[in-house]
Amino acid sequence: MARKFFVGGNWKCNGTTEEVKKIVTTLNEAKVPGEDVVEVVVSPPFVFLPVVKSLLRPDFHVAAQNCWVRKGGAYTGEVSAEMLVNLSIPWVIIGHSERRQLLNESNEFVADKVAYALSQGLKVIACIGETLEQREAGITMAVVADQTKAIAAKIPSWNNVVLAYEPVWAIGTGKVATPAQAQEVHADLRKWIHSNVSAEVASSVRIIYGGSVNGGNCKELAVQPDVDGFLVGGASLKPEFIDIINSAT
Ligand code: G3P
Repeated sequence: MARKFFVGGNWKCNGTTEEVKKIVTTLNEAKVPGEDVVEVVVSPPFVFLPVVKSLLRPDFHVAAQNCWVRKGGAYTGEVSAEMLVNLSIPWVIIGHSERRQLLNESNEFVADKVAYALSQGLKVIACIGETLEQREAGITMAVVADQTKAIAAKIPSWNNVVLAYEPVWAIGTGKVATPAQAQEVHADLRKWIHSNVSAEVASSVRIIYGGSVNGGNCKELAVQPDVDGFLVGGASLKPEFIDIINSAT
């Protein structure tokens, strides 16, 4: 089954109103393939979601970088899935390793968040990935399978889920996974989904790679059969993000 290439830009905790407007101008002026070839979703900090959504070209879409695990209420500082829906924000990133590590978000908690976001009609970029210690201990597949299993156990459908494999040791380090490393984990993840979810989901779910992707390394990653796109951090704030979008295969 042909899977539409997906390129996400995770702006993380960066930007001012002026800076995000400049990025949006660069994106709006970019020559890129049509939506039938590549799906582009950019994820500014919460405070800039309305302005980015209002200015962004109609063939690109926006994502929040997180949302709360249940209906809104007395949860100071949180942003609920309902609020994102109310703002017509269609996507949300959940389970990013920076939140798993810094805020102790467990596999269960991430899975509950994914399930709740989907239940409210959001589309989810669900992040998984192993640490350097786990890779060096040879337990990469066990770790990412556990993370995926927790999500699979809680969601009724994978139709609105993109799975982002982001090895923690490649995030923000400049140490991008080699094409072989990325392809190996993506293929094993697809096999796991085939055995534990269904053949149909395994062939249709997009598994995207994140971790030090840039304009120079994206092409050799994009041609890997089980790499269906990228979740880009630092490079998504720069004009080279357009090169990454144009690496769509
Ligand atoms: O969510 C994407 C991000 O974690 C990757 O960051 O800066 O290594 O591209 P970066």
